[in-house]
Amino acid sequence: MTPADRSRRFLLPVVADGLEPIVVASALGRTVTDIDGRAYLDCFSGISVVNAGHNHPRILAAARDQMDKLVHCASCVYHVPVVGELAEKLAGIVPLGPTSRERERPGEAKSFFCNSGAEANEGAMRLAKQHTGRREIVALAYGFHGRTIGTLSITGNQARKKNNGPYLPGVAFGPAPYCYRCPLGLEYPSCDIACANALKDVVRVQTSGDVAAFVVEPILGEGGIITPPDEYLPIAARIMHEHGALLIVDEVQTGFGRSGRMFHVEHTANLTVDIMTMAKGIAAGFPLGAFTARHEIASAMKPGDHLSTFGGNPIACAAALANIAVIEEERLCENANARGAELIAGCKKLQEKHALIGDVRGRGLMIGLELVRDRKTKEPAPIEAKAIRARMRERGILVGVGGIFGNVVRLQPPLSITQKECERALAALDETLR
Ligand SMILES: Cc1ncc(COP(=O)(O)O)c(C=O)c1O
Repeated sequence: MTPADRSRRFLLPVVADGLEPIVVASALGRTVTDIDGRAYLDCFSGISVVNAGHNHPRILAAARDQMDKLVHCASCVYHVPVVGELAEKLAGIVPLGPTSRERERPGEAKSFFCNSGAEANEGAMRLAKQHTGRREIVALAYGFHGRTIGTLSITGNQARKKNNGPYLPGVAFGPAPYCYRCPLGLEYPSCDIACANALKDVVRVQTSGDVAAFVVEPILGEGGIITPPDEYLPIAARIMHEHGALLIVDEVQTGFGRSGRMFHVEHTANLTVDIMTMAKGIAAGFPLGAFTARHEIASAMKPGDHLSTFGGNPIACAAALANIAVIEEERLCENANARGAELIAGCKKLQEKHALIGDVRGRGLMIGLELVRDRKTKEPAPIEAKAIRARMRERGILVGVGGIFGNVVRLQPPLSITQKECERALAALDETLR
């Protein structure tokens, strides 16, 4: 039996039938190698996870070293040095808002470790409810926050929610800050960021006024790299804070250098983040999720209120510490900014040549090309997006596909990608589109 046959035979079809036809044998840096020895330039990073590149030797060494000492003893039962060290590091780098008291007393934020982005968002919502004593949540249309019942309840995407409802009550959705397809029929900047201001009515009309938190991705990744205008988050946060709700920023996909800063919210001045959720890029592929909260909020949860058996696994925490050190010391945020700007400019040039590209957007190395069959009607082109992914693969380059209509080609390579590799990816895209 071939490995692919075995997957099809023994994995649930929900996984097996969606797999790309590559059997991965190994990966290093930006290169993924299949079992026939064919090398691919990875422009998807295992869905935006291996930001420092595959199998970075320093991260592996830290994980191996920790594995020799301790694999598991339940970090929620005993003190484990590396878990506290990672929490201390996060307290130093997670920007909980320039106007928050934490900013004046850096390092007082507190973290909770779990295993995934969904679990981080579940915990963050629970903490917000416990701190505020309120019960409702506001999220965004086209947002995505995970696949548990709680996180699907705040996910604004039927494709992810179907065959699983009904979902939790007490959730309201604001309009997506999706300039290319503005749900309010307006145009930036004359719109005056009406989608953010619409949150006042969302609270007034759709909720009972008991909102604990506003949960938001700074860039809506699975929704199609939907990149709100810079003004969006501060306005939205102000409205929700005035209402007494906390701001939970879901940096599961944008975090750890992806957008050209360690966290996307660092691009935004005057933003008070109350809780930040993280996963994906936190530990270079070792499974780890986390949420970090301002300390006065963090104290709302008491022992026994919330736990995760594997949460704060020592190996994953050691990998995360080394991963953050690599991102900082190898100046990967700077590289993400520089290479991201080149890639976006290159994609915009391709947009001039190829009518299929309706929109190019993103920040740093989180880039989306939205494909449309007709630039006037903006009819989504999902079949074409999948075909481009397949043709790029044949050319030895891995890209992703996503978006609310399944028509967005996603470029999210490791942050160490070189100028030459970006040029190669752009040339392959050009040929493919032709
Ligand atoms: C913004 C965001 N939040 C949460 C999640 C869920 O993360 P996980 O798959 O680790 O549960 C994802 C996954 O794509 C995500 O992009």
